[in-house]
Order: sequence, then C-alpha cells, then structure tokens
Amino acid sequence: MSAPAFGKVAVLMGGRSAERAVSLKSGERVLAALKAKNIDARAFDPKERGIDALMAERFDRAFIALHGRYGEDGSIQGVLELLGIPYTGSGVLGSALAMDKWRTKLVWQACGVPTPRSELLTKASDFAAVSKRLGLPLMVKPAKEGSSIGMTKLKRASDFAEAYALAANYDGIVIAESYVEGTELTAGVLDNEALPLIRLETPREFYDYEAKYAAADTRYIVPCGLPPDAERAIQDESLRAFRVLGCSGWGRVDLMLDRSGKPYFLEVNTSPGMTDHSLVPMAARHAGISFEDLCVRILGLARTADEAGAHVG
Ligand SMILES: Nc1ncnc2c1ncn2[C@@H]1O[C@H](COP(=O)(O)OP(=O)(O)O)[C@@H](O)[C@H]1O
Ligand SMILES: [Mg+2]
Repeated sequence: MSAPAFGKVAVLMGGRSAERAVSLKSGERVLAALKAKNIDARAFDPKERGIDALMAERFDRAFIALHGRYGEDGSIQGVLELLGIPYTGSGVLGSALAMDKWRTKLVWQACGVPTPRSELLTKASDFAAVSKRLGLPLMVKPAKEGSSIGMTKLKRASDFAEAYALAANYDGIVIAESYVEGTELTAGVLDNEALPLIRLETPREFYDYEAKYAAADTRYIVPCGLPPDAERAIQDESLRAFRVLGCSGWGRVDLMLDRSGKPYFLEVNTSPGMTDHSLVPMAARHAGISFEDLCVRILGLARTADEAGAHVG
C-alpha cells in the first residue's frame, strides 16, 4: 500500500491503564515511524479526548499503541468497530479473551495447546491443598494484568494468603499456576507468521516488572539457540495458540520450555510494546524488518470485523 492510500491515521496512545507511560513511549515511536514513511499519522490519546473527537476527526484507520485495560481488552476495538474505522491487531473477541489469562487457559486446554496446570483461587480456597496439588513453587497472578504486576512466585504455602491478597488488589479473578522451571521464550506474530523466538534470561526470580523495565542485567537472546527444527515447531505451536483465541494481525505469545524442551504457553499479548526495548521490534529486526517497515506492515493489516472476516483468527 502506498502512503496516501492509508489516508488519515490515528495513532492511539496513552489511555487510562496502568501501562499508560509505556504506551506513550510506544505511540511516539510508531507515530515517528509512520511519519517517516510519509503517512499522515496523528497522535490521539483517549484519556484526553473522547469518542466524539475520534468521530469528528474522520480518521481512515487507527494504529492501536495502547496497552492494558481499555486499549488491549476489546473496549477500544468495539468503539472502532462501531465507528467503522479499520484498526490494527486483534478484534473484540480475541482482545478480550487474551486479556483474561484464566479464560485463555480454558480455551487452550479445550484445543490441546499446552499450558501449565492451574486453579482458580478465592478467599476461601484451601491454600495448603492447592499447593499440594500444583506443587511448589507456583505462580499466583491476577487474570487481567500485564507487566508482571500483582504476581508472586510462591515458594512456601504459608505465604499463600499474602500472595492472593496482592493479586486480588488488581483483579477479581486470581489464579495459581504450576511453575515451569526452564527456559523463557517469546514469539512475536506478524501477519500469520511467527518471528524468530527470543530467549529471555534474568538473574531475578522471574521476568518481573524490574526485569522488564529497569534491570540492566536482563538478557535477550536471538537467535534463541534452539536447533532450527525445534524452533520452527515452537513457532508453529505459538501461531496456533494465537489463532485459537481469535487473535489476528500481530501480537506476542509468551511461553516457557521445561527442562525436557516441552513448551507451556503462558499468555498472549494483543498490543505488545513498541518501545526501543520492546520484543516484537527486536524479533522483527532479526527477521530483516526495520521498525518503520514493521509499523507499516501492521498498519496494512488494519481491519474491521466486516472486512474479510479478518478477525476470526
Ligand atoms: N507458570 C509459570 N512458570 C514459570 N514462570 C512463569 C509462569 N507464569 C509466569 N511466569 C513468569 O512471569 C512472567 C510474567 O507472566 P505472564 O503470565 O507472561 O504475565 P504478564 O501479563 O504480567 O506478562 C513471565 O514472563 C515469566 O517470567
Ligand atoms: Mg507476559
């Protein structure tokens, strides 16, 4: 598609979620990249301006650079559907489903996509019994947060109540999940293909908020070091994990490999970071795709649900 054919493009950034600051960084970079490609792109922050303004601007398409609640959960996707503005990434269903780690796992279990064993927790849960069934350590996490917020790697059953309370601050749904000891990988998805896998290493207990945004000792290894056949198999499985949730366009799938090399899928991010430290741009670069080209490719995949059934996955 040529630059004028994209028309007037809204880069949606900022928003009202806990990840607002990261989204502003992602959005500024996307905006600069699209402008560098002569696309008529304009910043639009849904926290500062309402749906009436979005409508009045008569945008031809929208690049969603929002993260977390209201931006990645189907809400803004629904607004754009109603306004008839083609938008990047997954549709309403895929966005909402991927935002909810518990329901994501239910769909994966139904479809045979491997995911760590887990249980739904309530205040009344018998934490000792859960620890026994899932084994220790285990992860306690809120179902609908990002950036490792509200998560605990639990080593002693006696710390369960505290970990539950922390997660429950962020979401009404809290899960306990078996901990997978092994290698952490992430698979970027672009237009029905998986990008090269990135291996993540941190000396911390797990890839927590610090490791993601602050620590200087987090390592990103790409190529990931797996034999090509093994990498290809995990890329294919990642694509399937993405599609069965109804996700489309682009995104990122997080997973762990256990010591025997078996993958366990953790979650899908439907509007991953696009900052200068972000993983999808890093993987794209290794596939020979510049940041500017990546942004134009993602924008070129913008759809409404009406168009070509593109959001069915
Ligand atoms: N079951 C698990 N086993 C091992 N590590 C896990 C597990 N669940 C989460 N983690 C660690 O916590 C990090 C964040 O978990 P994730 O489910 O991807 O949520 P978020 O939405 O916060 O990124 C992962 O990148 C990984 O390092
Ligand atoms: Mg993650």
